[in-house]
Amino acid sequence: MAKRSWAEPYKIKMVEPLRMTTQEERARAIREAGFNTFLLCSEDVYIDLLTDSGTSAMSDRQWAGMMLGDEAYAGSANYYHLEEAVAEVYGYKHLIPTHQGRGAEHILSRMCIKPGDVVLGNMYFTTTKAHQELAGARFVDVIGDAAHDAADLSPFKGNVDLKRVEAAIEKYGAARIAYLCLQCNVNMAGGQPVSVANVRAVSALCRKHDIKVFLDATRAVENAYFIKQREKGYADRSITSIVRELCSMTDGCTCSAKKDALVNIGGFLCVNDDALAEQARGLVVLFEGLHTYGGLAGRDMEAMAIGIRESVQEDHIRARIGQVEYLGRLVEEGGVPIVKPVGGHAVFVNASAMLPHIPREQFPAQALAAALYVESGVRAMERGAVSCGRDPDTGENIYPTLELIRLTVPRRVYTQAHMDVTAEAVIELYQRCGEVRGLRFTFEPKVLRFFQARFQQV
Ligand code: F0G
Repeated sequence: MAKRSWAEPYKIKMVEPLRMTTQEERARAIREAGFNTFLLCSEDVYIDLLTDSGTSAMSDRQWAGMMLGDEAYAGSANYYHLEEAVAEVYGYKHLIPTHQGRGAEHILSRMCIKPGDVVLGNMYFTTTKAHQELAGARFVDVIGDAAHDAADLSPFKGNVDLKRVEAAIEKYGAARIAYLCLQCNVNMAGGQPVSVANVRAVSALCRKHDIKVFLDATRAVENAYFIKQREKGYADRSITSIVRELCSMTDGCTCSAKKDALVNIGGFLCVNDDALAEQARGLVVLFEGLHTYGGLAGRDMEAMAIGIRESVQEDHIRARIGQVEYLGRLVEEGGVPIVKPVGGHAVFVNASAMLPHIPREQFPAQALAAALYVESGVRAMERGAVSCGRDPDTGENIYPTLELIRLTVPRRVYTQAHMDVTAEAVIELYQRCGEVRGLRFTFEPKVLRFFQARFQQV
């Protein structure tokens, strides 16, 4: 059969030049940035795989939508368009727009958590847990063991372990459990999906004990794609119908629209309960903006409404996840230890396996991300002990099982050739990884330390 290559399902109408720096310039830049890739100037970065958050390329339709911004303070037409798109794809009753995901997390945490409560979740996410703790809760992880094992090939490594939920109910009592926060395509586990069957079982168990379930729908569309690929009975279902099914088993969601929904800024909170919606609309006015804009311009809401509908198109999602898979395959073929199966938004490189000579207290993943930047101009992100922070009770560093760097692929931004260059850089570094040195803090922020921390080489 003749060869049929794969190609991106779009063509490029506008380009943004990239700047390549010398290794010497990069060595200086990372020192000035305190060995933290978050503190680099983007102009000093060649291929930016720091995050898939807010870094998507918008389509011509979305840019056209930006020109239709209705910037009325109240009742903007774009709010109603967004409400329609969210109802169509996610299906919840009430929409409260927020400036981004953490705006929604803040409001949900404030409404549903009392000091002393516990929040259950399938692995923490940084901002989500920080808001839960700020509201006085303690986070209890109920994800299954597979999520902590980089080599486990289970198809749904994001799944909740029901026994852990039962054990938590037993230990804390259902009344103290504020809610269960169910993340789709679990970010810190490597972008690993949950199955519909698991969500159904979790939802039934929580309902039995009168515990609410809120979805972190940030990457629900990417999760739905994996369900379509891997879960029995879903191969012929549309992505939208799978997302709707996931949402239908929960009481509401928080969502960062900066990922799946293909916008540079935006987020939302959804709930089905009328009284909770009223309370949320009261809080959004205090912290974000009126309930019909939530900290966004009208044009941002229009771009989001269009982006939500584009995100569930089959050829888009296939290409999006296909590109991440492609990068994962190249890196793995080069012998580099990665989290498997490759997740939806990123390739996670196992830094502790790659740098066994650096002890955990010297933050191997942080050191690896810095070294990769110096080597190649590719910017990755630490997802290990620095991101995890300290135990709120003991003040000790928490060392999560996975000590990773994340090569996060923005949507519709880079080509296959950029993936080739990235893989070559990672593989080359792997061959010389004995030269990478550990790091120690010179400045450690109290909250979400990974964003602004500074280090020096040991
Ligand atoms: N939930 C998940 C699973 C996320 O990945 C993020 C953000 C948020 C919530 C918060 O949303 O940034 O819009 O306030 N993740 C980004 C990342 C920062 O790089 O993974 P936000």
